[in-house]
Amino acid sequence: MSTRLTDLPLDPIETASRAELQALQLERLKWSLHHAYANSPVYRRKFDEAGVHPDQLQSLADLARFPFTSKQDLRDHYPFGMFAVPQDRVARVHASSGTTGKPTVVGYTLQDIDNWATVMARSIRASGARRGDKVHISYGYGLFTGGLGAHYGVEKAGLTAIPFGGGQTERQVQLIVDFKPEIIMVTPSYMLAIADEFERQGIDPASSSLRVGIFGAEPWTPEMRLAIEKRMNISAVDIYGLSEVMGPGVANECAETKDGPTIWEDHFYPEIIDPNTGEVLPDGEFGELVFTSLTKEAMPVVRYRTRDLTRLLPGTARPAFRRMEKVTGRTDDMMIVRGVNVFPSQIEELILKQAGLAPHYQCVLGKDGHMDTLTVRVECAHGSEPVRAQAARERLAHEIKSYIGVTATIEVLPEGGIERSVGKAKRIVDQRGR
Ligand code: DLL
Repeated sequence: MSTRLTDLPLDPIETASRAELQALQLERLKWSLHHAYANSPVYRRKFDEAGVHPDQLQSLADLARFPFTSKQDLRDHYPFGMFAVPQDRVARVHASSGTTGKPTVVGYTLQDIDNWATVMARSIRASGARRGDKVHISYGYGLFTGGLGAHYGVEKAGLTAIPFGGGQTERQVQLIVDFKPEIIMVTPSYMLAIADEFERQGIDPASSSLRVGIFGAEPWTPEMRLAIEKRMNISAVDIYGLSEVMGPGVANECAETKDGPTIWEDHFYPEIIDPNTGEVLPDGEFGELVFTSLTKEAMPVVRYRTRDLTRLLPGTARPAFRRMEKVTGRTDDMMIVRGVNVFPSQIEELILKQAGLAPHYQCVLGKDGHMDTLTVRVECAHGSEPVRAQAARERLAHEIKSYIGVTATIEVLPEGGIERSVGKAKRIVDQRGR
């Protein structure tokens, strides 16, 4: 096994055997299902309607008999109807804005927050944190789980938190230069905006004090990883999570292997299902990722459908814990252009191959009569000449046609032409309903 990059002590469970981990999972899963059934009217009704009772779970595989939970369940019981503890035990709420309608609200007891800090601290160590590191946090603080989730994890890992939050890009650069953090936690798209700002100020981003970047909250491709690592001269790892299940830190890549996020399975039990039939698929097969919380008190989730598409892989750097393949697509982001399924990440991969283009992009869906159209808006690379950008434009159109099978119009915009987000990038602009 490769040597660990962190010099901080691991949690005992991280070095347990698979059998020990599974025994703990079964014990916790029984508790979690009983807790949900006894204390959440929503789960009691769902289980009763499905004709199942927590006592029927005797093995981990029995979980397949229980009903799924979806985002719609949370919306139907907005704001606090999914909580399974009295209000006086709810220490905090978070919410994710969602693109339409009401936000999804989640709640935590003090114990939940402590468990969350534990898995976040683990994630930060797995990323290669070392004693004495300072961590610049650019995930947004507030209702979004990114900022506070990272913050508690940094403190629990015994490191120094620099709670910057999102936005004020010019000052982000100033503080990185002045405070000399070794680690940054930020969305990959906002990292690019910060890198641009370094250059605008005449500073080479590769010369900063940063050694490690912990990037997530949105899909990003392996090609984007290489581009960021080179430009920033850092090691970039993937952090995955979602507010309904906890927040960031459900899974995190180990710096030694960088082979997809390791799932902290002692708190979150993963399954992969066929998104159309709901059937559980064996490890190694692609499908929709589903999670059951094993320790959450305030808002347990049973078989929560994430809509993220991936597959489960065997453990490597933490042998007992399964990994998930890097999520580069989710069912919500699948564009269907004249019958062809296209994910923004496929476009991203091809953009990153073009030297004349910068990886700031948007996919605009439109209509030409009854036909769907796809326009890819992308920026020309820093200092790139118009002739080079024109050539890159033609090559990109050609590659999208040959690799993905759709015809796309490419619009190359000048630098700064794509709106920068300070958090999750908006990759799809759907103008078909207009
Ligand atoms: O984005 C939590 C988070 C914060 C994760 C900071 C990592 C870092 P939500 O706003 O509820 O929570 O959005 C969750 O974002 O279902 C995925 O579709 C997507 N997502 C999160 N991490 C990744 C990742 C936070 N590493 C949704 N790769 C999830 C791809 C990701 N997609």
